[in-house]
Amino acid sequence: MSRDLFEAALAARAKAYAPASQFSVGAAIRGRNGKIYAGCNIENAAYPEGWCAETSAISHMVMDGEQSIAEVCVIGTGDVFCTPCGGCRQRLAEFGSADVPVHIAKDSGIVETFTLGDLLPASFELDRS
Ligand code: THU
Repeated sequence: MSRDLFEAALAARAKAYAPASQFSVGAAIRGRNGKIYAGCNIENAAYPEGWCAETSAISHMVMDGEQSIAEVCVIGTGDVFCTPCGGCRQRLAEFGSADVPVHIAKDSGIVETFTLGDLLPASFELDRS
């Protein structure tokens, strides 16, 4: 069921631009509309200017007019258990509720699933009403 999301994250990872860390990451988001949005990390010689795979995926989603996340999958390189960084946890939480599943994958497939609430308890939320 989440196989398609894993495959999309894996394909995105192959496009990573990570000359500084040599650590490629792929992320895939399923929007509430059912569509999959994928992205990779893109680094920069001015190190802090680079950004994460999740950020790229969110950008594709928002530009498609979707602002609600249903499911996420992230895959790093090798045997590293690659969970979203703090900033990306907040970015994902802007568009997803606490019960949204976040799958962490390795090359063999999804190895563990958290919820966004597990990853970012007591998140900061502006009242957007
Ligand atoms: N990175 C991601 O793209 N997503 C994560 O969840 C963790 C880290 C990237 C940032 C940087 O390009 C590289 O991995 C090494 O930290």
